[in-house]
Amino acid sequence: MSKVVFNMTVSLDGFVAGPNDSPENGLGDGGDALFHWYFSGDTEISVGSGSPLLKVSPQSAEILKASIATYGAGVWGRRTFDIAGAWGGHPPGSPAFIVTHHVPQEWAYAGSPFTFVTDGVDSAIRQAKEAAGGRDVVVCTASILQQCLNAGLMDEIHVDVAPLLLGKGVRLFDHLNIKPIELERIRVVEAPGVTHLGFRLVKERQS
Ligand SMILES: NC(=O)c1ccc[n+]([C@@H]2O[C@H](COP(=O)([O-])OP(=O)(O)OC[C@H]3O[C@@H](n4cnc5c(N)ncnc54)[C@H](OP(=O)(O)O)[C@@H]3O)[C@@H](O)[C@H]2O)c1
Repeated sequence: MSKVVFNMTVSLDGFVAGPNDSPENGLGDGGDALFHWYFSGDTEISVGSGSPLLKVSPQSAEILKASIATYGAGVWGRRTFDIAGAWGGHPPGSPAFIVTHHVPQEWAYAGSPFTFVTDGVDSAIRQAKEAAGGRDVVVCTASILQQCLNAGLMDEIHVDVAPLLLGKGVRLFDHLNIKPIELERIRVVEAPGVTHLGFRLVKERQS
């Protein structure tokens, strides 16, 4: 059954980007260090022609390949879409669903690599699941994770923890309105420059 899986790189103090992020300063002040692990190994991985070729350690490569193989669709927020320059039209996961209040008309055409969702994360996740054909839906932005958690839509949280304290910036776990959620740890992998952690949300069975 299709799962909704979150995956991003985070600093030890819980930031996915430093302050002042923008298209010219993608990961914000000091945030580039979050992605050092993507470019400091010797195993090459491509995640789409709109993203740079990754060079990671063998341990990280194994995890990335296994994860990518399970993804059938991806959901992002509009800020990441804009900051990434729409990945030049080649999103790192497809089909790609972008949650936004305003559809960018230059990308709204038949055959566009993007589906813009203006009626919220429930709708985005539902559409992505339909498109994923039984594979998983990956969520790759903080604001969408938070809304999915608030709505009870998330199944797994995977974080690649970079050995870095950013102090300020874009918080991963912000704006939460949840009851405590028990997590089952399903992965811990130490790799050069990063620690890969995976958790499954323990959900109460419906009676
Ligand atoms: N560390 C990593 O692995 C990693 C990976 C990717 C990105 N990043 C960074 O993460 C940062 C962006 O993340 P973010 O969480 O701040 O923003 P985001 O999720 O990418 O985008 C937020 C925007 O999406 C739209 N949106 C979100 N929920 C919506 C809803 N329910 N209905 C309609 N529109 C909605 C809104 O934009 P509009 O109102 O304009 O439509 C909102 O401002 C950037 O700095 C990026 O570089 C880090």
